[in-house]
Amino acid sequence: MLSHEFYTTPTLRLVVGPPAGVETDVLVVPVFADTDATSLHLPDATASAMAALRSTQELKGEAYEQHWLAADGMAAGRVLLLGGGAAGAVSPDFARRFGTAAGLAARSRGQGRVAVLAHGALESEATVRALAEGLTLAAFHVDAYKTRDRKLADLHSAAIVVSAGGTNALADAVALGSVLGEATNVARAVAHEPPNVLTPAVLADRAKAMFAGTSVQVEVLEEAQLREKHMGLLLGVAQGSVQAPRLIVLTYEPANASGPVLALVGKAVTFDTGGISIKPAENMDKMKYDMCGGAAVLGAFHALARTGATSKVIGLIPSVENMPSGTAFRPGDILTGASGLTVEITNTDAEGRLILGDALWYAKQLGATHLVDIATLTGACAVALGRVASGLFGAPDAWREAVQGAGTRGGDFLWPLPISDDYEDLLKSDIADMANAAGTRYGGAISAALFLKAFAGDTPWAHLDIAGTAWADESKPYQPKGPTGVAVRTLIELARSAETWA
Ligand code: BES
Ligand code: MN
Ligand code: ZN
Repeated sequence: MLSHEFYTTPTLRLVVGPPAGVETDVLVVPVFADTDATSLHLPDATASAMAALRSTQELKGEAYEQHWLAADGMAAGRVLLLGGGAAGAVSPDFARRFGTAAGLAARSRGQGRVAVLAHGALESEATVRALAEGLTLAAFHVDAYKTRDRKLADLHSAAIVVSAGGTNALADAVALGSVLGEATNVARAVAHEPPNVLTPAVLADRAKAMFAGTSVQVEVLEEAQLREKHMGLLLGVAQGSVQAPRLIVLTYEPANASGPVLALVGKAVTFDTGGISIKPAENMDKMKYDMCGGAAVLGAFHALARTGATSKVIGLIPSVENMPSGTAFRPGDILTGASGLTVEITNTDAEGRLILGDALWYAKQLGATHLVDIATLTGACAVALGRVASGLFGAPDAWREAVQGAGTRGGDFLWPLPISDDYEDLLKSDIADMANAAGTRYGGAISAALFLKAFAGDTPWAHLDIAGTAWADESKPYQPKGPTGVAVRTLIELARSAETWA
């Protein structure tokens, strides 16, 4: 195992009762812009301090605004008034962010135990689950490799405090939120490893270790087996690196499974230099996160191992390092994939679609009836949608819409981009079945998706391009700079709701 731990999962609990009795370091009281807090049963000292801040307009209740108070008459060490914005605008997505902001605020004050008073708009099952997710996400360390001067304390435990009512359902919501948050942290931790540490072989070993003794089976195909299966696209990308490729295959199969087989296929390029079509030096270090699709699949299975699903789910993670060298593949090469399709290489930096092509084909060999791939695939997608929404492609429409629905429920913002025969000319090759990169930058996310579709064929298929969303370059109160774990919860939600789409 690796020695630098990116997180420990905080113990989460639901507390029913008045806030004054909650044992914690920081009691977070959400303050909304448009409602008062008279129903909160806070001790008089806290209530009057709040009222005073309100009356001077120092406390407005704007989202993530912070005011720290002494916790007179409470079991808590201190009180944080944390702005919740307009109560009417509270959604599960907001609750998740609020939970993370609460946990990070406590950690920034050196405190390892936090409790959030889930009142008003935050007290529903969906928002309590999301608060639990957010609090768990707050435990992630972006500075795990710092051996000194770490800024944030470890988050050991978190409580969600409610007044009463439906507590069994709320306790289940807390437990599920913790599983979802941890799965997301699993993906973030893998994503954050530097490329010298996380090679394809190490990624495969991590997958084996992660699922040992669980209901998820792990099989790893090494180079010789990839050769036997004629995976020339994957092998072509890998051949420039001294790091040998792997194809990680995960299987979750409930007893008596019948019906659909969902395949989750995640790109895991542990470092993407661009190969012979080398990238510019600026920001090349960021290309360690070119394995976030594969990391998301690992995170999703981490949750499935704990919560189960009613139908079979397989995961495929093709992993390579894309390097320039004397043995590297070249522009001008023609590669033949396992499906038999020939591909003219016009740009070695369009490598993700190549490894996914072989993996999608193999997913169908393994019996997949529904395909979803997830990849940091194109800069063009980030240009189109910014750093907010991930690109979503797919066919037929009903399947793409099912994936988008899972995204909405899971808390990932996925936005559809078009794919149609009218674009097909983009990848025309005079000498092979198709080219791996288009001759134009226009529609760059679409031409990449079209390439993948050739391997999915008529099987329902959706593609998530997370190039713009897998990594945060700016820190926010609810998201530190670093890996976001985008799409993990979408994949879990999809795997656990087969009855809605099969
Ligand atoms: N891994 C990159 C895409 C990427 C870019 C991810 C920025 C995250 C942030 C991918 O392999 C790539 O290099 N794509 C090329 C495709 C082009 C050569 C057709 C791109 O986006 O420029
Ligand atoms: Mn590339
Ligand atoms: Zn790449």
